[in-house]
Amino acid sequence: MSTRKGLILAGGTGSRLWPITQGLSKQLMPIYDKPMIYYPLSVLMLTGIRDIGIITTPQDQVQFQNLLGDGSQWGITITWLVQPNPEGLAQAYLIAEEFLAGESSAMVLGDNIFFGHGLPELLASADTQTAGGTVFGYRVADPERYGVVGMDGDGKVTKIIEKPEVPPSNYAVTGLYFLDGTAPERARSIQPSARGELEIVTLLESYLNEDALTVERMGRGYAWLDTGTHGSLLDAGNFVRTLQSRQGMQTGCPEEIAYEAGWIDDAALRVLAERYAKTGYGDYLRGLL
Ligand code: DAU
Repeated sequence: MSTRKGLILAGGTGSRLWPITQGLSKQLMPIYDKPMIYYPLSVLMLTGIRDIGIITTPQDQVQFQNLLGDGSQWGITITWLVQPNPEGLAQAYLIAEEFLAGESSAMVLGDNIFFGHGLPELLASADTQTAGGTVFGYRVADPERYGVVGMDGDGKVTKIIEKPEVPPSNYAVTGLYFLDGTAPERARSIQPSARGELEIVTLLESYLNEDALTVERMGRGYAWLDTGTHGSLLDAGNFVRTLQSRQGMQTGCPEEIAYEAGWIDDAALRVLAERYAKTGYGDYLRGLL
């Protein structure tokens, strides 16, 4: 089990997906058969993290609570936090400062979906780095839409730029950040960018400037799925459907992760399976017993 605390940032306006996200948070949208937030939550659980803070907008929080409760059904503890306005990803560390209480953390954006053979090992390796920060670089065709890393000839990261017009590489920084206990203190000294946000890349830069940032590259065997446009949202759902139908296994299933980790027992899993008795999801959970 990890001693890190988990954070999921699930606020924002979702305005790029309006009208579908006008009445419902983006991170509650379906990705095939599960709400979007199940996937990033699963990433934290796969890391072995059981103490998780979830940051939402004030108005959406009750819906997230209806879905996830206090986490005890999966043997985890959820602390609910609020971001009144979308003032930047790095603001999450200010909002969560008290919850983090000086501990290292793993933060994942509530709309980031990861899949890949070897993911648990990659997460475990990042988890063991107790000082500094670790982020994950992923090769994409359209780096100008993301935070991008620049590298020297030896592959060492030299800079991180948010949505550069001329990207220094094709490696986007994914929305998964393993940072040490100094993150809130560093976030406090950041100035808002021209678009008025506390930028995550500025926070990462403060680690980079001290040579305390590791960038792990996720190779082509991984899928880091985009959910930022209507088309990519549908593609992500189709990807999960294709994979699950072919394998007969779930991806992003918190019940399964909790059960495999021994955080819930047979009786608890049976209760969860009964709750979903009318669905294939329930059949799957029963099959795990
Ligand atoms: O997905 C990875 C990318 O996420 C990184 O490569 C970028 O460096 C990082 O800035 C971010 O870029 P996006 O363009 O995706 O950021 P966006 O503003 O869309 O926010 C990402 C998610 O975080 C989105 O689901 C909304 C949520 N959010 C965003 C902001 C700015 C919040 O909950 N609060 C916020 O203040």
